[in-house]
Amino acid sequence: MTVTQDTTPVSHYERIGGAGSVKAAVELFYDKVLADPELAGYFTNVNMAEQRRHLALMMTVVLGGPDEYAGRGLAEAHQPLGIPVAHYVMVGEHLTATLAELGVPADVIDHVRTVLGQVQDQVVASGTGPDA
Ligand code: HEM
Repeated sequence: MTVTQDTTPVSHYERIGGAGSVKAAVELFYDKVLADPELAGYFTNVNMAEQRRHLALMMTVVLGGPDEYAGRGLAEAHQPLGIPVAHYVMVGEHLTATLAELGVPADVIDHVRTVLGQVQDQVVASGTGPDA
């Protein structure tokens, strides 16, 4: 055969449908967060259009798409907010529920869960964990 097989691994980002799918997920995710009375207060004075754009760019990187994220680091953006673990868990659940609702494959959701575990310490306020 003269055809060369393309063995380039397809990124999670491409598999779920690229920028449009990430944008849809971010929209639905923040709709859920803002509808949650435990969490909505964090975003009262936040420009949600910017917020959605930043999270979409960060999700794109997490899923193996192009890196165009130019916002603050996670610790810098979240440490001043004093977020307890319980709220972090709730936000993570809204995110994974959103992805499941949109039909994102289970292995991609597993990857997102892994990343959520990896970045927790940057987002959650130091000293508010269960051992504090
Ligand atoms: C892994 C989990 C999370 C990710 C990936 C994430 C991602 C982001 C990103 C990309 C920004 C924008 C940073 C910037 O504008 O420079 C941001 C800001 C923000 N995040 Fe998160 N976030 C996470 C968890 C949380 C949680 C658990 C809460 C609240 C319970 C939260 C509340 C906020 C708020 C209020 C801002 C705006 C801060 C400001 O404008 O001063 N985030 N987040």
